[in-house]
Amino acid sequence: MIEIESLSKSFGKIKALDNLNLDIKRGELLGIIGPNGAGKTTAIRITCCILKPDSGDVLVDGMSIHQEQIKIKSMIGYLPEEPNLYERFKARDLLSYFAELYGVPKGEIDSRIEELLELVNMSHRAEDRINTFSKGLRQRVGIARALVHDPQILIFDEPTMGLDPATAHNIREFIRELKGDKTIILCTHYMDEADSLCDRVAILNQGRIMDMGTPQDLKSNIRGDLILNIKVENPGGDVVKAIEGFSTVEDVEVADNQYTISLKSKNDIKDIINVFEGNILSVNTKEPTLEDVFINSFKQ
Ligand SMILES: Nc1ncnc2c1ncn2[C@@H]1O[C@H](COP(=O)(O)OP(=O)(O)O)[C@@H](O)[C@H]1O
Ligand SMILES: [Mg+2]
Repeated sequence: MIEIESLSKSFGKIKALDNLNLDIKRGELLGIIGPNGAGKTTAIRITCCILKPDSGDVLVDGMSIHQEQIKIKSMIGYLPEEPNLYERFKARDLLSYFAELYGVPKGEIDSRIEELLELVNMSHRAEDRINTFSKGLRQRVGIARALVHDPQILIFDEPTMGLDPATAHNIREFIRELKGDKTIILCTHYMDEADSLCDRVAILNQGRIMDMGTPQDLKSNIRGDLILNIKVENPGGDVVKAIEGFSTVEDVEVADNQYTISLKSKNDIKDIINVFEGNILSVNTKEPTLEDVFINSFKQ
């Protein structure tokens, strides 16, 4: 649905995108995660035909950003990092304004706006002006605005940044409801958000993809499927060799009195614990998180 091909963009000496390639399938929810300045917003702005690349192309449903800006813009609903909403407008009027701008048929505008206000839980604030809204309420209006022309593609740039946990949870639920029906790109800092919502995740750094896959694949590729953490009373002895002898053990790290053991499966856990012969203070198991993957991909 969206094919990003060899995209490069520099701002002066800063290479924001460095030969970026990325494919987003129809109906997929793709997450783009990466540190500040990785190039996420730049890639999105180019895809939305707001910014021109130095080289490369983006094909949206087969149409090039160099040729079909108007058609592409009409297919995409975009929630920018800082949605620029007209402060003096009432929420309902703002949505009508954009509905007209995007060519929603006149007879459908009112019902469409009712539906959207309901979706983002803003029906009770429809007659209030944007400048009286908190960041969370603005974000909801921004999402409704992105949806107003019922686009096939939605692009959300850091939609929950700076929101309180309850509001962030609400926004994630809106996105979850849209899943499947729309093709969605979600840029986020929050690893657990990417993990719970996305079909696939791309890790971007310095304008390049460092890793890509389903959250599950990314997690199991990097650190094994399970991490066993054992704290002992008296470190020492030759337990590491014995632990490494188990076929399910991928890696053992020792720090102070703590052993961190990456495992492919839980089959040998009991036997591994027995190696310590009771010299144990605590045992923990943990599945790797996307955050582990993220941090790991910067170590390589
Ligand atoms: N309009 C601009 N002018 C100058 N530098 C920019 C501009 N937009 C982005 N950059 C630079 O490009 C790099 C990538 O930025 P951006 O795409 O916003 O990253 P992200 O969204 O991943 O934080 C950063 O170093 C940023 O400072
Ligand atoms: Mg950004």
